[in-house]
Amino acid sequence: MKSRILVIDDEAAIRDSLRMILEYEGYEFLGAATGQDGLAMVERENPDLVFLDIKMPGMDGLEVLQRIKAANEAVPVVMISGHATVTTAVDATKLGALDFIEKPLASERVLVTIRNAIDRSRLADENRSLKRVVEVRHQIVGESPHLKKVMDAIRRAAPTNATVLITGESGVGKELVARAIHRNSLRSRDRFVQVNCAAIPDDLIESELFGHEKGSFTGATEKQIGKFEQADKGTIFLDEVGDMSLKTQAKVLRVLQEGEVERLGSARTIKVDVRVIAATNKNLEDEIEKGTFREDLYFRLAVIPVYVPPLRERKDDIPLLVRHFADLFARDNNFRPKRITPAAMDVLQRYRWKGNIR
Ligand SMILES: Nc1ncnc2c1ncn2[C@@H]1O[C@H](COP(=O)(O)OP(=O)(O)OP(=O)(O)O)[C@@H](O)[C@H]1O
Ligand SMILES: [Mg+2]
Repeated sequence: MKSRILVIDDEAAIRDSLRMILEYEGYEFLGAATGQDGLAMVERENPDLVFLDIKMPGMDGLEVLQRIKAANEAVPVVMISGHATVTTAVDATKLGALDFIEKPLASERVLVTIRNAIDRSRLADENRSLKRVVEVRHQIVGESPHLKKVMDAIRRAAPTNATVLITGESGVGKELVARAIHRNSLRSRDRFVQVNCAAIPDDLIESELFGHEKGSFTGATEKQIGKFEQADKGTIFLDEVGDMSLKTQAKVLRVLQEGEVERLGSARTIKVDVRVIAATNKNLEDEIEKGTFREDLYFRLAVIPVYVPPLRERKDDIPLLVRHFADLFARDNNFRPKRITPAAMDVLQRYRWKGNIR
């Protein structure tokens, strides 16, 4: 498809010469002689790139630029001027202009600018669609009454700062629930820091969580900021919390009680403002019986308990999940979406799904 380029300049000679250059190179040219007309065209024609003169009678280029950006930040704008001064260039970049070219216009320079600008906005588009893909992957699919209860719990828990304990079998979606709580919380602009307590060796977990000073133990060659500090103002997700040693449990309890951490090898306490979400596929009450989990920590964590039931108890979700994943994988692999016959769906619905959704 031809890229469409709008030139806003009061000088007819400039518009004409740009028209020649652009059309010769196979671009579609749009022209406007005033800022006012230009703005209307940006809105109506949604060009891929705008060349914008700075000095124009009436509304000048910087004002037009501001208005374009206010209406749609994504439109790439390149400023043109015969009176280029460093300060206007800086002003224009601050206001969101991508680049700056000077009159008289050299056709090579114009074409390079166009290529750069259009490549860059294509990249930005790709980033936007990547972000959408991430969102699709973190989407919680399902409409069963069981899952609705989970969604209600997410909605209720999200705006608070209360600690949440998510339980359920392996693969039921505990991490998704944790992310959804963070995403819907007031902390969503800050970080979601995940710690897999089962995957980190016991002698490293404390420095992972709380950080350490350089030289605090053999092998501590550099200072390390702990996950609690990294998550300041955001959310920390303590995954597989049932696998944490009693010693680490005692330290985590202290953070929850005092809201402060100490790096290993340092006596200084650091205040942290962190919301804690924990998850486990163990039955912590059993672990308390066995003496492997602290009861006081359990009560601190389970302020809002959220139980995610296994898939076999919410068979209504299976057809929706099957379609969701079939579409996702088809898209990933450039297949046409698969159709699933009612008989096949029936088999899928009766299956036991020991690994649940994972
Ligand atoms: N309701 C759902 N809709 C869509 N995808 C889901 C749903 N529940 C789980 N998933 C997907 O299933 C996989 C497992 O989910 P998740 O990691 O959240 O489960 P988990 O309970 O933390 O599992 P584990 O105990 O194995 O760590 C992920 O890829 C997740 O995206
Ligand atoms: Mg998990």
